[in-house]
Amino acid sequence: MEFKVKDISLADKGALLVDWASAHMPVLNQIKRRFEQEQPLKNVAIGACLHVTKETAVLVEALMTGGAKVALCGSNPLSTQDKVAAFLANNGVEVYAWRGENTEEYYWCVNKVIDNKPHITLDDGADLVGTIHKERTEMLTNVKGGTEETTTGVMRLRAMEKAGALKYPIIAVNDAYTKYLFDNRYGTGQSTIDGILRATNVLLAGKNLVVCGYGWCGRGLANRAKGMGAHVIVAEVNPVRALEAVMDGFEVKSMTEASAMGDIFVTLTGNTSVIRKEHMLKMKNNAILANSGHFNVEISLPDLKGISTLRRTLRPNLEEYSLQNGRKLYLLAEGRLINLSSAEGHPSEVMDMSFADQALCVEHLAKTGKMEPKVYSVPRKIDELVAKLKLKAIGIKIDEITEEQKEYTATWETGTV
Ligand SMILES: NC(=O)c1ccc[n+]([C@@H]2O[C@H](COP(=O)([O-])OP(=O)(O)OC[C@H]3O[C@@H](n4cnc5c(N)ncnc54)[C@H](O)[C@@H]3O)[C@@H](O)[C@H]2O)c1
Repeated sequence: MEFKVKDISLADKGALLVDWASAHMPVLNQIKRRFEQEQPLKNVAIGACLHVTKETAVLVEALMTGGAKVALCGSNPLSTQDKVAAFLANNGVEVYAWRGENTEEYYWCVNKVIDNKPHITLDDGADLVGTIHKERTEMLTNVKGGTEETTTGVMRLRAMEKAGALKYPIIAVNDAYTKYLFDNRYGTGQSTIDGILRATNVLLAGKNLVVCGYGWCGRGLANRAKGMGAHVIVAEVNPVRALEAVMDGFEVKSMTEASAMGDIFVTLTGNTSVIRKEHMLKMKNNAILANSGHFNVEISLPDLKGISTLRRTLRPNLEEYSLQNGRKLYLLAEGRLINLSSAEGHPSEVMDMSFADQALCVEHLAKTGKMEPKVYSVPRKIDELVAKLKLKAIGIKIDEITEEQKEYTATWETGTV
């Protein structure tokens, strides 16, 4: 079996991390136990391009327990946990991932996963699907379907669908309630702060923290940062979301205004060049820039480099840029996903739900006959099952709707009484 990881001797240390994650992923473990009995993925080859974290290892184990053969690469050059990659390679997974891949190495890894001839693809950012559709089209007839984990990936896939370019069906796992309401909001909210603190150890209380993008991730970050005493300023382009931020109690400003106020800036938009030269030139001395959106294009690195005279790495994930105007700006984790590059990504408890959705959607794809090449929602049944299992796992009982209530909500005749 082939693999390429940083250091295979780290496997035992990786095993301990995976045990720790697994202990906090009861829903996925319950699915794994069923998979062991039913073998729904027998003879299914899975190609996965996901952040190689301890939680991903628990997902991969569940899929293999269900009978699948799995090949895995990272979905970001800086997010691979090398100990976990070694653990997986040691356990029969074709892993091609290490922290610090350059772009050429990154796509070499993606192509190695494609060489494994996947029947089902799992993506986080659509690089695997994109590469198959652009460069490895010979594989298109082999692939039955795929899943997509994140907002940016779903945006790219919907654009492919609209252009008539999508050649196999994809389930948008990101758009399940049990995914984005928890993973994007609470997971990104907490782990983005974790990443910023591990890179800088600055005090959040009293700081002006500018949140660019008040979507699911931005809402989560804004609320958590507020809870830690930061003064949160939101920059948005969508008027409804900007209004929501106002009524949630945040100051809302244009990027131009916010640029002169922020001590810390975080982009979570899924868009490009959100922080540009004209903003950087207005920023205070010592302002910190971080990105928690999928790609490293939200903070314009060409602009930052273009206005700088000197660049120094002060500690891991913290680079100082000296500007021509005499001020200094600090860029975290090269502008890549701060929570996965400088911390460990989302807590296992939220990945329990996201990856339960993934496992059940993979099973759904494997069991369902031919599907049209479209972007599909996660089946409602799967979403509800994951929520039910999670509530049960954390010991919470809820009421059931009564027959009378079922009838009442289905009729239109009854009004004011
Ligand atoms: N860090 C992580 O682990 C993690 C987890 C989940 C999602 N993501 C990524 O985070 C990004 C955001 O995801 P989401 O689920 O919050 O998406 P979302 O669509 O809910 O929110 C994005 C928001 O950004 C706003 N926006 C777009 N362009 C903007 C601009 N130029 N200036 C200000 N605001 C702008 C949009 O109007 C929208 O409200 C995506 O790239 C997604 O893939 C990261």
